[in-house]
Amino acid sequence: MTEYRPPLGSRDLLRLDFNENTVACSPKVREALAAISTGALTLYPTREPVEALVAESLGLRGEQVALTNGVDEAIHVLFESFLDAGDELLLPVPTYTMYGVYASATDARIVTVQAAEDMRFPYERLLAAITPRTKIIAVANHNSPSGSVATREQLLELARRAPHAVLLVDEAYFHFYGETMIDLVGKVPNLIVARTFSKAYGLAGLRLGLLAAPLELMRWMRRVLSPYSVNSVALACLPAALKDETYLDWYVGEVKAARGEFESALDAAEVRRWPSRANFILVEIGARHAEFAERMRALGVLVRDRSADPGCDGCVRITIGTREQMRQAATALNETLSALRKENQTR
Ligand SMILES: Cc1ncc(COP(=O)(O)O)c(C=O)c1O
Repeated sequence: MTEYRPPLGSRDLLRLDFNENTVACSPKVREALAAISTGALTLYPTREPVEALVAESLGLRGEQVALTNGVDEAIHVLFESFLDAGDELLLPVPTYTMYGVYASATDARIVTVQAAEDMRFPYERLLAAITPRTKIIAVANHNSPSGSVATREQLLELARRAPHAVLLVDEAYFHFYGETMIDLVGKVPNLIVARTFSKAYGLAGLRLGLLAAPLELMRWMRRVLSPYSVNSVALACLPAALKDETYLDWYVGEVKAARGEFESALDAAEVRRWPSRANFILVEIGARHAEFAERMRALGVLVRDRSADPGCDGCVRITIGTREQMRQAATALNETLSALRKENQTR
């Protein structure tokens, strides 16, 4: 395994690099935080009551939902629970980095299925790659960094064609994307859905995610999951975050409006982009992608160089924040691109 270190560093700028909420969490969460008792800090955390609350909000039974320390822990637990030597993880790429990281900590083989140049979900090739050894198929839907999406029918067919495997549908961007499989949890025997509170809810620092799974599969995963990995502070804040739908709706609406404006700015600047229905856009900058990211940083805007991702040569991912923030980003982008283009002409 190679160590994975996210490029965090000093981030006291406009943070369009990690697909976080670029404003803040709900003010109701701050109130819940201020009201935490000493007792809550002293005792080991009890997650079941909050799991029941979350399950209810999703239309599921408490036992079908496990809270996790971010989706990252959910992926780790899932892979540890089901992947053994000789098994295969089927992974459409490019996709979220941590699938590869946690899979490489098991003895299973990672079978990647590359998306074509248009970045569309490689559905036919995924179906063709299913073997009797396929144990998990991991699909981020909506995907990052590519922005690809799989339809409900495609996901159902994948689950049907691999009854001996688990289909993970990672819905980290659900609140922006709006499509879900969560209503099928418990109805499709091999379907597991993951969600996060790191994106639209603005709680990436609290580390809160969840797994929703049929009881049969959940029982295996609970054997691997630490009973205390979601801490008392996170558990105390989660109900307040869940309840404040007004805040969530405002933020999601703001991002969607900003995305439309920013797409127009990209088109006007003749920057190639891939479709997105989430809070980020993948764009093609070309050979000088690293310099582009550096110069954007110098102008106060952090973006994420994704050029090393499979099939993403020359690409950068830009998180979408508010309209005001994205106008600042568009100004920086235009300035950076015109400087780079001018230099290219005189080289
Ligand atoms: C597809 C996908 N899943 C999961 C995560 C991470 O979620 P969490 O912060 O809950 O670990 C990300 C973060 O970028 C993501 O893009």
